[in-house]
Amino acid sequence: MNIDLTGRIALVTGAAQGIGLEIATQLAAAGAHTVLSDINPAVAEQAAQLAERGGSTSWVQLDTASEESVAAAVEQIGANVGALGILINNAGISTPRATLETSLAQWQRVLDVNLTGPFLVSRAVLPGMRDAGWGRIVNMSSFNAKSSPVNGDNASYAASKAGLTGLIHNLAVEFGPHQITVNGIAPGIVDTALLRGAHSPERLEQLKSRLPVGRFTTTADIAALAVFLSSDVAQSITGEIINVNGGLYFD
Ligand SMILES: NC(=O)c1ccc[n+]([C@@H]2O[C@H](COP(=O)([O-])OP(=O)(O)OC[C@H]3O[C@@H](n4cnc5c(N)ncnc54)[C@H](O)[C@@H]3O)[C@@H](O)[C@H]2O)c1
Repeated sequence: MNIDLTGRIALVTGAAQGIGLEIATQLAAAGAHTVLSDINPAVAEQAAQLAERGGSTSWVQLDTASEESVAAAVEQIGANVGALGILINNAGISTPRATLETSLAQWQRVLDVNLTGPFLVSRAVLPGMRDAGWGRIVNMSSFNAKSSPVNGDNASYAASKAGLTGLIHNLAVEFGPHQITVNGIAPGIVDTALLRGAHSPERLEQLKSRLPVGRFTTTADIAALAVFLSSDVAQSITGEIINVNGGLYFD
């Protein structure tokens, strides 16, 4: 099945690198005009590279945790590109720390980016989707939102992603009548430079042996589902948080 998103306009947050960049790459390859956004201005270079490879792209600097920044970016997209039909709430941070060593500022920042961010960006784009009678919102969750954590040293992250589940469920019910679907993707252990830099080869083999499919999840695995959920064919899927984790955990 070839998914064709020609004519759609998509916004991806946290698109300067990692999972967000791969999702932007695959959305553009599927024909969507893709707006790459990030707090990091390097996102401009990534958008330019995708355009060189034939994608229809633009970029905007956007801090998802700032109401002003979100409003300015969405207004800019509306004026320069058009009405957004697809939103990928991907930007997220993780600052693992034992709970007793977690400051209020650190806790608050993780919640601001991982939970308030998706609320702010969704709230900014939903009126346009409602007016169009069509929309797709895909949020990046985590297995930490559902299963027992590996180390128990990341309460702020787990709480933010579990809170995101509530936001997804509520928005799915609230905006379903407008043909707007709202879902989440829960990656497991993703094969990134960060993962490879953080563990010895022996530890990586140990982690891999926990996965029934015998391989780490890739950013491309996650992006493929994001493209599917952004398409017309996924119209009956809403309120779901779908695992893409090689069997690390299932529900
Ligand atoms: N990598 C994993 O193993 C994994 C597993 C489960 C869930 N996730 C989730 O997937 C998403 C992407 O993860 P990743 O591994 O690609 O991370 P990453 O750190 O490689 O990339 C995250 C991007 O988000 C941007 N960002 C951070 N704060 C921002 C803000 N306030 N506004 C806008 N952009 C901001 C960063 O600049 C960066 O470009 C996150 O939500 C993360 O929680 C990742």
